[in-house]
Amino acid sequence: MTPELLSYLRCPVSREPLEMEVLETGTKQYNGTEKEIILNGILRSSVFIFPIINGIPRLTVEAFIDYEPFLAKHVKDFVAIKEKINITYHGLLQFVLKKNKKTKKSFSQEWGLFNYEEDKVWDADTEGMLQRFLQENDETKESLNGKLILDAGCGNGLLNQSIAACGATIIGMDFSQSIERAFEKNTQSGALFIQGDVQFPPIQFDLCDIVHSSGVLICTTNSELTFSCLETCVKKGGKISVWLYHPVKGLIHNTFNFLRGYTSKLPHKVQYYLYTVTLLPITWIVKKLKGNKQNTREMMIDILDWFSPEFRWEHAHDEAAAWFSKRNYTRVQVTTNELFGFNIIGYKN
Ligand SMILES: C[S@@+](CC[C@H](N)C(=O)[O-])C[C@H]1O[C@@H](n2cnc3c(N)ncnc32)[C@H](O)[C@@H]1O
Repeated sequence: MTPELLSYLRCPVSREPLEMEVLETGTKQYNGTEKEIILNGILRSSVFIFPIINGIPRLTVEAFIDYEPFLAKHVKDFVAIKEKINITYHGLLQFVLKKNKKTKKSFSQEWGLFNYEEDKVWDADTEGMLQRFLQENDETKESLNGKLILDAGCGNGLLNQSIAACGATIIGMDFSQSIERAFEKNTQSGALFIQGDVQFPPIQFDLCDIVHSSGVLICTTNSELTFSCLETCVKKGGKISVWLYHPVKGLIHNTFNFLRGYTSKLPHKVQYYLYTVTLLPITWIVKKLKGNKQNTREMMIDILDWFSPEFRWEHAHDEAAAWFSKRNYTRVQVTTNELFGFNIIGYKN
């Protein structure tokens, strides 16, 4: 992480600003020049503790459990801190560990397949992804200049680089291991990355010009709850933009949703091999016959994205519009409408 990121960060539970202890600095190439970054460190609020590992602040509520060996090695009083959190927040910890376990694994596996040099993201190349983002968010390349954006559930982080190249500062957040390569492959100084949970955003409230969350709410425990957690980060006059699945009529769609109800419960590796020998060959033949140019990895990512997450909610457009209006958002509009889903935006009043 770079030092300027710290001022945006908050404890995801207490909302306090975080105190930082730097353990190791390093350098990273941004826009062709070398910049000093904080490689390893510790972030603290009055109760919680979060590590910075390999340049990424790890800000999920459960980070002190996920990264216990690192903290035990670097923090003298870690055992006492851990005990205090465990006693004070026992119920909360059980809740986040349970709700996040499977989803973290499924998306770590899905994005682990992605090849940054060869693969497209949802059928779009870098320029195509940026154009889609601009349309979804009702922005232009020029209007992004100087804006502060939160990309909640950034996945592989590629889009973030194109947005930063337009002059925006964009905080990409994801709780899966995809955040590691998103950070590693990034070459734009305006693209910042953190590991965090969209239901506990570790970002200052009322801060961002745009909170963008594409294809994420619908794979959390409750889409509207996640919306309400994220909209707190939008500043007055700012915008929230979310891409959601909508219901699709059709036998194949409903059969797939019925099947995933069972297969998504299997261990993730088993799912991978199961889909490789069943859905992938069928998908490959059908897509090739239709002239689709996706490679096998891209097809597998699509399959995993549908079949492996624990949750997959679909919402009607007016249902989602009500999430905005009942929180006093105005100028609510559907900006894109596709086969499987739609993007909807609104402005904080
Ligand atoms: C379908 S992918 C979309 C990624 C990216 N927004 C895009 O459009 O390419 C959903 C992403 O949301 C992330 N995600 C799901 N639940 C999350 C949570 N509770 N906190 C943070 N990220 C989450 C997953 O790890 C995954 O990378």
